[in-house]
Amino acid sequence: MAYLDDTKPLKLGDIARLRASGEKIAMLTCYDASFAAMFDQCGVDAILVGDSLGNVVQGHTTTLPVKLDHMIYHTECVFRGMRHAFLVTDMPFGSYQESREQAMRNAAQLLAVGAQMVKIEGGAYMADTVRFLVERGVPVCAHIGLTPQAVHQLGGYRVQGKGDAAAATLKADALALEQAGAAMMVIEMTPSDVAADITRSLKTCATIGIGAGPTCNGQVLVLHDMIGVSPGKRPRFVRNFIPGTGTVEGAVKAYVAAVKDGSFPAGEHGY
Ligand code: KIV
Repeated sequence: MAYLDDTKPLKLGDIARLRASGEKIAMLTCYDASFAAMFDQCGVDAILVGDSLGNVVQGHTTTLPVKLDHMIYHTECVFRGMRHAFLVTDMPFGSYQESREQAMRNAAQLLAVGAQMVKIEGGAYMADTVRFLVERGVPVCAHIGLTPQAVHQLGGYRVQGKGDAAAATLKADALALEQAGAAMMVIEMTPSDVAADITRSLKTCATIGIGAGPTCNGQVLVLHDMIGVSPGKRPRFVRNFIPGTGTVEGAVKAYVAAVKDGSFPAGEHGY
């Protein structure tokens, strides 16, 4: 379904219209201008300059060493390459948790170089910060479930929201973040039925799943996972789209098509 005019840059309202129309939102991470230009040609709706660059670009084992300056640099690179997709940038660890004023100061630097929205990790305790940013003109993507910046607190990269109590807490987090103004919400490594319940319960906020089942309003993958070049063990929620397509461009197009027609993620990618 070609719901949007792909000659124009997407805006926040277009993301809301995609959600409302039921068309799935295809999002990928990106860190440079060349891939950003290719993503536009392949119909990617939203680009995330993820702090996963700490892993896949910088070679760290966590996202914790990523600095605001790194996110600014990669956002500049991506922004120069793209014309169409909606651009979201991660706020790195330590750049927004201290106070809502700190979050605003640092988010402003990301918007100044092209980001249209910032992503921050955390549950209901971040709602005050989300509201502060949104009221001051900064669109916010929340990130719940597995929040990689909290890896040491969580004790590893584990599925979150398992069991009735944890699922209820996650849902309460999602509702509080939407109430505070988050327009998009990444749900990571969460049982599919829990993410489905959250997606049904939200009124305006677009859910973007990664290891959260097929019913989210959209999907995101880390580029390097999607083309099979990330070192180490592949998480269950990842599909390598290179086999069967043969080129990176083919893989990106196949990913977009599979998200749009609902064939990705399949049951085997969920929890
Ligand atoms: O940093 C990142 O790439 C992310 C995605 C995994 C959602 O946050």
